[in-house]
Amino acid sequence: MGDRWYQEAVVYCLDVDTYADSDGDGVGDFQGLIGRLDYLARLGVTCLWLNPIHPSPNQDDGYDATDFYNVDPRLGTLGDFAELLHQAQNRGIRVIIDLVVNHTSDQHPWFQSARSSPDSPYRDWYVWADHEPDDRHQGMVFPGEQHETWTYDRTAKAWYYHRFYKFQPDLNIENPKVRAEIKKITSFWLQLGVSGFRMDAVPFIIERTEPGNPNSPKDFDFLTDLRQHVQWRRGDAVLLAEANVEPEELPVYFGDGSGSGNRIHMLFDFMLNGRLMLALAREDPETIIDALRDTPKLPTGGQWATFLRNHDEIDLSRLTADQRNDVLAKFGPDENMQLYGRGIRRRLAPMLGNDRRHLELAYALQFSLRGTPVLRYGEEIGMGEDLALDGRDAIRTPMQWSYRENAGFSTAEPEKLIRPVIDKGEFGYQQVNVTAQRKDPRSLLGWFERMIRTLREAPEVGSGSTAHIDVPMPPGVLAHRADGRTGTMVFLHNLGTEDVEVDLSTLAPEADLPIDVLTDRNYEEVGKLDRLKLAGHGYRWIRLCRGQGL
Ligand code: GLC
Repeated sequence: MGDRWYQEAVVYCLDVDTYADSDGDGVGDFQGLIGRLDYLARLGVTCLWLNPIHPSPNQDDGYDATDFYNVDPRLGTLGDFAELLHQAQNRGIRVIIDLVVNHTSDQHPWFQSARSSPDSPYRDWYVWADHEPDDRHQGMVFPGEQHETWTYDRTAKAWYYHRFYKFQPDLNIENPKVRAEIKKITSFWLQLGVSGFRMDAVPFIIERTEPGNPNSPKDFDFLTDLRQHVQWRRGDAVLLAEANVEPEELPVYFGDGSGSGNRIHMLFDFMLNGRLMLALAREDPETIIDALRDTPKLPTGGQWATFLRNHDEIDLSRLTADQRNDVLAKFGPDENMQLYGRGIRRRLAPMLGNDRRHLELAYALQFSLRGTPVLRYGEEIGMGEDLALDGRDAIRTPMQWSYRENAGFSTAEPEKLIRPVIDKGEFGYQQVNVTAQRKDPRSLLGWFERMIRTLREAPEVGSGSTAHIDVPMPPGVLAHRADGRTGTMVFLHNLGTEDVEVDLSTLAPEADLPIDVLTDRNYEEVGKLDRLKLAGHGYRWIRLCRGQGL
């Protein structure tokens, strides 16, 4: 492994409360997760990203915290959390947690104090205006569910700013005390043993909000400062940020101190996510090729985090209207599948019609593209969504462990579960569960295990450079390569449904005993690379050569 662990990591994202319930109260907990660490180790996961774990009224699935220095008692105690860190470390698995400091819950004692009086020591911890700001109805993140970004608080007798729901008042980053507190929060969790943070809503954290100005300036220096702090407290800690901004803005988030990244280590590649969905919908790799070509050059140590699904809707807002319509028509045709006028609230397996070959192709493609792959829990067994649930809850149903009642997630009475398990149709737990797939090497779970092991033997993907192989290709086929210290990998993915033959003989001079290391089926030997067969929705991961002396 190279120097920087995050570049060769496989990140697995989960909500503790829907993963595994150890005490039968209907809510998943740390002890339940500890019991599943061996499963995650076998899958090949090297880093867990836990969605918010703090005490919270849970009006936004924990993204509304009331205490940054504790854990939600429904999940266990701080002691249980420390035990989780220890047990994960024993298995070589790191843990990162969500850092949600753009806002707090309106129930947070800081906000309760702040609104109670202009003299409260916490008044300036939030963003206030005496008069109704002109941009009150602009900049909402959840259109349809949210109608304003400034709300009048009768107790405070003032307007407060909230980029998200009105129960999530924004913290005031201009206040040095707030900055110091954010650093203290990171120190606390680093000291306990987390390996870093998934930073929520970064463009909004650094917003120097000016009432009436919907495009308030941003303070990037805070990110430099926070990075310094975090790195000093724990040298190998990472910041993985959610910053869904225009591509040309992204480099500023990585920062650049004489060629080396000095702000965020890793950014989610939202642009690639939308383009991947479009490429799958159109069976045409064109937009992925564009993405590989247009990717801004990253400073040393900068890294992308790739994903197909996460805990939110698939955001298609950066695609053109035509492109978005193509994705919606294919993957989310019913209004009920769509959200906020920009996205899809579905999991990948149902979007791809539960077509096993198509699913393998999609995930093989994601994991082979540059960056660190992030996988959402349940995707490895092909779980579905529950569109009867509100908004994003559709994709936040309990993990399906077995054929037992409640999918083996909990022994509670079904009506006590945090959310119902999916128990009907082809995605019901009777059909889709870990136990069934664990004993079947041909299952999707078995495939994920194999694919991830293979990826680990190809560190070029994470820590090397990736490029499109620009030679004539049959329609639908993407050819790309990853080059690094350990050698070169070549990847073929056929997004179309026709069987084809690919000629990569221009690479022959570089080849040294080239072999297939992961394929959708048995193909003839790679040979001279001039007649590579590739089935519809097929893929071939080929090791072209090894690095010198390896
Ligand atoms: C981020 C999270 C989302 C949450 C929001 C508010 O976008 O991904 O789940 O609702 O921030 O914290």
